[in-house]
Amino acid sequence: MKFYLVVGLCSLIVTGSATFSRTPYFGTAVAMDPFRNDREYRAVLDREFDMIVAENAFKWSELRPGPDTFDFDDADALVAYASATGKKIRGHTLVWHRQLPKWLLESKPSRDEAIAILREHISRVVGRYAGRVDAWDVVNEAIDDDAKMRDSFWLRTIGPDYVGLAFEFAHDADPKAKLYYNDYSIEDLSPKSDAVFDLVRDLKKKGVAIDGVGWQAHVIAGFRIGREHLQNSKRIRELGLELSITELDLRIELPSNVEKLRLQADSFASIARFCKADKNCKALVMWGFTDAHSWIPGAFPGFGDALIFDTSFRPKQGYDELRRVFPRKQV
Ligand code: XIL
Repeated sequence: MKFYLVVGLCSLIVTGSATFSRTPYFGTAVAMDPFRNDREYRAVLDREFDMIVAENAFKWSELRPGPDTFDFDDADALVAYASATGKKIRGHTLVWHRQLPKWLLESKPSRDEAIAILREHISRVVGRYAGRVDAWDVVNEAIDDDAKMRDSFWLRTIGPDYVGLAFEFAHDADPKAKLYYNDYSIEDLSPKSDAVFDLVRDLKKKGVAIDGVGWQAHVIAGFRIGREHLQNSKRIRELGLELSITELDLRIELPSNVEKLRLQADSFASIARFCKADKNCKALVMWGFTDAHSWIPGAFPGFGDALIFDTSFRPKQGYDELRRVFPRKQV
């Protein structure tokens, strides 16, 4: 207590504001429907998290109804909410192979045209929220499970340098935002995480403005942070990049039971302790918070129960473990 008082007073003297050091941020993805319509969802969101990310609202499918049109309603609402409540916000995502609009997929642009489309999108979206969105997942899932570059609209139309170009466009639109490469199954050491490491190392070498790597961390209950994760985070740090855990959920094979929930809680604790202990880990963001709104049952049939509140917003054991490591901050 005394320690925090001293740190708080120092920050008051140095910065003139009474804010405490808040990293790692504790965040969640937000789904638009309950965000707008479910009071209980909103109350938990208000109370528990100091960072948000849109589960879908910043994706092309939502922002780009047509080649010449943008629909910012949902994204604006989330950015305004973050500003009003003093929460940080991550932008997800500018370049991905999924959730692209039909008009884009059906277009046949030349390489130069595709670059122009990408540039316009990124400039408009990042530029609109410059100074308000703290970090962007500029490129999402560019490396496939076989550790090669993933086949995608962007790879086919532009070629592999779409990755560097996307970072360049994002940096031009908001030089202060933290720019991330984000992917799944890159938490431990594997051919895929090596390929991601090589990719971000090459970007750094070329002087591309990349700031961090996001570990999605869609993992299975029972997961533990081990030596490989520590080695992997170390090499990221040594490259001069920060790390965020961006989409954490811990799926359980159904039917769920008390033992499985305990195992899941221990997994949450392991990840939270890791992120808290590693100064380079800037955020721990979950892919939702209530089992009432989780992509897991749809994406992994036979699995569910992956988050820290149940379908009635009752905290599960995982919640208690997380809160032990991340005591609620005063906002
Ligand atoms: C998922 C959303 O949760 C779903 O609602 C949507 O239907 C599909 O996308 N990796 C990502 C996220 O980077 O954008 C994905 O989100 C989950 C996997």
